[in-house]
Amino acid sequence: MEAFRLAWLGRKNGRLKLISDAWLKVAPIEAKRLIGQRFNALKVSIEAALSEAENSQVWNLLKSDFTAAALDVTLPGTLRRPGVEHPLVKTMAEIVGVFGRMGYSVGLGPEVETDFYNFESLNFPPNHPARDTQDTLVIADQDNKPLRDRLLMRTHTSPVQIRSMIEQEPPLRLVVPGKVYRNEAEDATHLARFQQVEGLCVDSNITFSDLKGTLDHAMKALFGSSVKTRFFPSFFPFTEPSADMQISCIFCGGKGCRKCKHSGWIELLGCGMVDPAVFQAVDRKRVELGRAPAYDTARISGFAFGMGVERIAMMRYGVSSVGLFYTADMRFLEQFA
Ligand code: DAH
Repeated sequence: MEAFRLAWLGRKNGRLKLISDAWLKVAPIEAKRLIGQRFNALKVSIEAALSEAENSQVWNLLKSDFTAAALDVTLPGTLRRPGVEHPLVKTMAEIVGVFGRMGYSVGLGPEVETDFYNFESLNFPPNHPARDTQDTLVIADQDNKPLRDRLLMRTHTSPVQIRSMIEQEPPLRLVVPGKVYRNEAEDATHLARFQQVEGLCVDSNITFSDLKGTLDHAMKALFGSSVKTRFFPSFFPFTEPSADMQISCIFCGGKGCRKCKHSGWIELLGCGMVDPAVFQAVDRKRVELGRAPAYDTARISGFAFGMGVERIAMMRYGVSSVGLFYTADMRFLEQFA
């Protein structure tokens, strides 16, 4: 194209220049108009040919780009990998699902709670040492409020039991998944923010057998039908009697190994029969809010339980350090995809 341009339009030796010198410039006056017109027509057609060539060259370049990159069907496509549930979310959903199939609904509550819902209504007296076991993270500048109204990060999901009973009359069956916060020194098995699933079942004639049967079924559904459960006396202010539930070690089947400290059993959750003091606190609050009392302790009973989701996920997936769940490290997370 450049050779064509030089041959016709070159300033020194282009043919148009030669034609102009040899014909146009020396033409007699009476022929100048006609020769001028023909000269201009020639010039226009040369320039048109040139710009057409230029255009088609650009087009060809574009075209070759398309075929080389975008339209090369032999290249692998851009891989879009589907997202999957985080192992903690998955574990939480499975726990909730097991209880869902037993007729439990899901309850939720705020992560910033008042002292009343987190402690007082759950039968933790003020200054009671049981509060110390929960290493509470409190919201700053609350000292001018009465204790029960002071805000804190909930230390357990149990306050949602209270909120739910204030809202609903028995019978009641619900599970409460959610984040909780404690001022913990973090290590391989403890974090300052972790997740729990709380459970509550309230009706007339609910007994400790119902608690045992329900949790035994849930553990078999979560860990396999050969898993056994057993219950040990414990203490929580909001249950009486209280128990710690253990399952037979899922690693050794109960024979004894390092994971179960050679006992054959692993402690998994806290539970118990709802303390009458809790029902009374609920009814006092219902009355305060203009509702009818509904939790007559002569007629109504219930059980409750609470479990740590991280601990269950660690056991199910064989994870040895709880912090891994929160690192967002793809090499770790991909293993659960
Ligand atoms: N809230 C207790 C904790 O965080 C766990 C718990 C124990 C919940 C017994 C319950 C229960 O509902 O009945 O340590």
